[in-house]
Amino acid sequence: MCGIIGYIGAIGTDSDDELDTDGGAAVSGAPTASVGDIVHEGLRNLEYRGYDSAGVAFVGPTDGLTVAKRSGKVDGLLVPDVPDATHGIGHTRWSTHGPPTDANAHPHTDCVGDVAIVHNGIVENHETLKRELSDHEFTSETDTEVIPHLLEEMLAEDTDADLLTAVQRVEDRLEGSYAICAVREADDRIVVARRGSPLVVGRGENASFVASDVTAFLEYTRDVTYLEDGDVAALEPDGVSVYHDGEPVERGVETVTWEADAAEKGGYDHYMRKEIHEQPESLRQTLAGRLDLDAGTVDLDVSFPPGYLADVEEIQVVACGTSNYAGRYAARLFEELSGVRATVEIASEYDVGAGRTPDRTLVVAVTQSGETADTLGAVRRANAAGARTVAVTNTLGSTVTREVNETAFIRAGPEIGVAATKTFASQVATLAMLAVAIGRERGALGAADARTVLQNLSGLPGAIQQVLDAEATVREAAKEYGDSEAFFFVGRDLGVPVALEGALKLKEISYDHAEGFAAGELKHGPLALVTPETPVLAVLTEGACADETMNNVTEAQTRGAPALGCVSSGREYDTLDAAFSVPDVGIVEPLVANVYFQLFAYHVANQKGRSIDKPRNLAKSVTVE
Ligand code: G6P
Repeated sequence: MCGIIGYIGAIGTDSDDELDTDGGAAVSGAPTASVGDIVHEGLRNLEYRGYDSAGVAFVGPTDGLTVAKRSGKVDGLLVPDVPDATHGIGHTRWSTHGPPTDANAHPHTDCVGDVAIVHNGIVENHETLKRELSDHEFTSETDTEVIPHLLEEMLAEDTDADLLTAVQRVEDRLEGSYAICAVREADDRIVVARRGSPLVVGRGENASFVASDVTAFLEYTRDVTYLEDGDVAALEPDGVSVYHDGEPVERGVETVTWEADAAEKGGYDHYMRKEIHEQPESLRQTLAGRLDLDAGTVDLDVSFPPGYLADVEEIQVVACGTSNYAGRYAARLFEELSGVRATVEIASEYDVGAGRTPDRTLVVAVTQSGETADTLGAVRRANAAGARTVAVTNTLGSTVTREVNETAFIRAGPEIGVAATKTFASQVATLAMLAVAIGRERGALGAADARTVLQNLSGLPGAIQQVLDAEATVREAAKEYGDSEAFFFVGRDLGVPVALEGALKLKEISYDHAEGFAAGELKHGPLALVTPETPVLAVLTEGACADETMNNVTEAQTRGAPALGCVSSGREYDTLDAAFSVPDVGIVEPLVANVYFQLFAYHVANQKGRSIDKPRNLAKSVTVE
């Protein structure tokens, strides 16, 4: 997946502004900002979407079209100085077609250097199109490069056509998913198109923006328009015109309420640590206004049609990575609280399955980004089979929200660290609320039991704060055990997904070998791997069969493994080598234990000097199957 940004406007160049000593212009109370500054800064904010190459293209009256690009991170890009640039586009890449080389970096241009485009997504029919364009000179191995050459063809065929018309025509030729941003030397607009990949337009004063994510331009405007699939838009400084099927259409303007500093590091060394520490606050946001503790009911701001949940026979959760583990936690809650058979599938493996009644099956797609291709694929298969579909996501306007019947937002705020942390907690909390909602609607969960769950949920932010206050003890444990050969995470029941997530977190950011197991399975194989060099980290809380798990931990300990446990307050396991206390919050205690695992992973990785926010080979959101 990639990040794209476009900017056209006059921020910092208003004639009333005083020129600063460098010849630029200063706007009182706002940053001085040239087109180059804004595009470059936008790319930095988007780097979490991909970071193996970066590039920019600027258009200005003196130099026409100027393109610069190279492999490597955004800060390694030498952004050309084009003082009179009127607009520009930028791209940060995570390779799919062609390795991360300078030539494969975006923007891509046509043969004569008249148009430049940046692209996120995949042009599935690029090979066919490339054959058609055999008289054009291609300089990269990307699927993207067919687009500027197609534009070149359109513009040559019809010399009256402008960039907007050409993009509209090219769009008809492309198969696959994409977000495109195009500029042309002789055109004073940025033209964009969206199909299946995110694209949001920002509407500032005398300035228009477009990006894969609002965080790219939040510093300049909070008024945004989410483009729909099939939309083509032309951006000018004083406005944006949107077209669909060639006809002008109106798209609403929404105001983003996230604070700009929510997307910055706020004093922490890494976004990941900041995001771990944000969990009490993000969870409060997740829960805000949704719990009625007296009635034992929840209001998820989802308008399920009457009876939609009542006659559901089965719930199938589909998700990838960390979201899959949140789904595993939830599947147990769905069975326990909603009284419905629930399964969880890795999205890329999902099929509705034989013997199912799709119209009585609720498919819950859990995805932080709302853009994960595997999860979208699963949703499409579920829709095609006639299932009911619900998304649980962090991202307003994301693709998944357009594909499902209903969406519940987890409201965790932007997460920049590639390794998911606060969004896992908010996903589980949202899914727990959904489980209560379904249980109540079906009459499977009484008010008193629901109240207990909701009280546990409302106790979560405070419980996690206590864990964060004890961070020093985890840092010590990371120091003592961080250089071990491998790490095994174990739990039972609700402790299993947390063990899996704990191991995933550690391997993602420290590059150490870590595995998560159902504790009972240790003796069926993994025990052969246990040595004094393989610490076992266990979930020993409510909801996780603590005593039985401790028996399995002891089996590992007698083979020499050090044992570290997250233990419910009120329990004592004296033989543990290190114990971390988990406050009493019932069925969400394993979720609190998970915060210890997040901190452990963070400190082990930090001591090793790893690239914590951008681990090697990984991307925050994976938009290819
Ligand atoms: C990538 C990320 C993971 C994430 C997974 C699913 O692999 O690196 O952290 O859990 O995608 O992403 P989603 O946005 O669908 O939750």
